[in-house]
Amino acid sequence: MSTYSEQRQQALSEPGAFWLEQAQRLAWMEPPTQAMGAVDGRQRWFPDGVLNTCHLALDVHVDAGRGDDPALIYDSPVTGTKKTYSFRQLRDEVSRFAGALRQIGVEKGDRVIIYMPMIPEAAIAMLAVARLGAIHSVVFGGFAPNELAVRIDDARPRVLLTASCGIEITREIPYKDLVDAAIEASQHPPDRVVVFERPQHPLTLSGDRDLDWSTLMAVGKPVDPVPVKATDPLYILYTSGTTGRPKGVVRDNGGYAVALRYSMAAIYGADPGDVYWAASDVGWVVGHSYIVYAPLITGCTTILYEGKPIRTPDASAFWRVMSEHRVNVFFTAPTAFRAIKKVDPDATKKAGHDISSLKAVFLAGERLDPPTLSWLNGILDVPVIDHWWQTESGWPMVANPFGLGMMTVKSGSAGVPVPGYDVQIVDEESHLLGPREIGDVVVKLPLPPGCLPTLWQDDARFEDAYLAPHPGFYHTADGGYIDEDGYVFIMGRTDDNINVAGHRLSTGEMEEIVGAHPAVAECAVVGIADALKGQLPVGFVVLKDGVAPDPIGIERELVATIRAEIGPIACFRQALVVGRLPKTRSGKILRKTIRRIADQGSAPVPATIDDPIILKEIQAAMRARGVGVFGPRSD
Ligand code: COA
Ligand code: AMP
Repeated sequence: MSTYSEQRQQALSEPGAFWLEQAQRLAWMEPPTQAMGAVDGRQRWFPDGVLNTCHLALDVHVDAGRGDDPALIYDSPVTGTKKTYSFRQLRDEVSRFAGALRQIGVEKGDRVIIYMPMIPEAAIAMLAVARLGAIHSVVFGGFAPNELAVRIDDARPRVLLTASCGIEITREIPYKDLVDAAIEASQHPPDRVVVFERPQHPLTLSGDRDLDWSTLMAVGKPVDPVPVKATDPLYILYTSGTTGRPKGVVRDNGGYAVALRYSMAAIYGADPGDVYWAASDVGWVVGHSYIVYAPLITGCTTILYEGKPIRTPDASAFWRVMSEHRVNVFFTAPTAFRAIKKVDPDATKKAGHDISSLKAVFLAGERLDPPTLSWLNGILDVPVIDHWWQTESGWPMVANPFGLGMMTVKSGSAGVPVPGYDVQIVDEESHLLGPREIGDVVVKLPLPPGCLPTLWQDDARFEDAYLAPHPGFYHTADGGYIDEDGYVFIMGRTDDNINVAGHRLSTGEMEEIVGAHPAVAECAVVGIADALKGQLPVGFVVLKDGVAPDPIGIERELVATIRAEIGPIACFRQALVVGRLPKTRSGKILRKTIRRIADQGSAPVPATIDDPIILKEIQAAMRARGVGVFGPRSD
């Protein structure tokens, strides 16, 4: 393989030739002759290529004589189960389940929602939908019925797939009940709900709509992969927008497969036959790309882990899985290692676990904070690599290209632009900024293969959110700078998305919910720094005149409402009743200033502030409730 700088240069100067060459790694049904071309008025990658992503992930390896090699290892400390599927076994299960789905009406282009815990059937479901050329939309299990209902109404699925329960450490999550509540709240319910029964929780089927997974599977006849265009959608993955309406990120089949296969070689240094473990969840983009599709397309063994970094049973969990399954490449979010570090600061639980198979550890989902990087460097003998990307990109935009030769690590930087991404920094007027100047992080168009072509059924929102802010560039909504050596430093979101334990959430959505409480006159929700989870949302609430002041009662209600409407993963646990909110003279709430007080104890008084005294009041309220720096530290 050529070097990083050669590939970066070629991808910049001749993107078409570069990506057509990368496309040759894949077994297309009809290989693309054209790198880019207009489809429905938009420039798309590989417009004349035909393939099937499930075929690439499974059949290709079986046909190449690797049918008996391990494709997927399910390791579930919460149920005490371990199970290995070979490529052939997985292909057979997937093709039968695809046949079963076809029997209940799923065809190419139909949407199927998957709301499932981390069990092999979740990956089988995704691959079966892909095999039919249908479009899956996986919804993370930590989302409440209301969030699921919003996604049902946007995607309008023909079928919804779920399980009888999920397991959070020892607690059962009643997935089927949550699905029933979501369907009740939706305008466009699916025709069918297929439920996988787990031994931990009996199946409850409601009426004619619900079907038992195993009964359906028993009658499913294997089906061949359905050829689709490279530009046809593989999935929709909803991510936080700035309001209660999530963005339906669309992913195509061809560009995605090419990008993922390239990333496995160039970024992760993973070869066919390697064991790749992304400790995430199939509900997130990391799970889509690096639990399911990239490892399987590459011919790696992927690990599907139903557990936590700690408490399943303790902080040895990651080391155990790495040693037991001889993991070569490991990927998780920094928060997971912070959780381990908190309970096992000297990494004593690592002792006795042979992790010599490991080549590198990758972290993303949030900034890799320097203390966690240096802790990891102290306990591991392999490179620890931060890399930056988003649901929208689908694969890393900035990384240390380990597979092309490791470069110097700069603590605090996510690395250098991945070949294919022309990352730049611009000011508010879209002028390019120089080294170390802070601004909006943007990517010069066209984006490389794999990135979102649009939002589901909403081209206008796609244009508005991503293309309009800086013409000619893709707007990432992250702020940061590039240093004189070309290293990119990401400083956080410039919109009101926050990152809680590696999960992207919208404070705008939380404000909509808090603001709808009958006692609330106005509110602000800000993401404050947290030593374990990176950020945590905190509400600041002004009550309506005449409402009896019951701050504890109101807080309890707001916490319960956010949990019920968004889900437990919102981690919304504090809502402070305050007399007033700091605002500019034009009435804009100074959320950044509130956040700074919580994170640093005080904040510079903005020139535009209406009444500076309010900052003292807010500070006093935080001190009284122990918010942010005024509270007990969680590390
Ligand atoms: N289904 C239902 N509930 C879920 C859930 C799921 N799939 N995942 C999390 N939850 C619940 C948790 O049980 C918890 O509920 P609680 O408030 O009743 O205790 C709540 O959501 C918050 O979860 P989380 O933020 O994950 O906190 P935690 O204390 O359970 O775990 C970490 C903390 C750091 C161990 C955990 O967040 C983690 O492993 N993070 C890795 C992040 C990751 O994989 N990111 C993806 C990008 S790489
Ligand atoms: P998501 O779409 O849920 O993957 O969240 C993407 C957002 O997480 C990005 O826009 C960043 O704000 C943040 N993020 C992800 N990875 C990193 C990283 N390595 N460094 C800093 N921020 C990151």
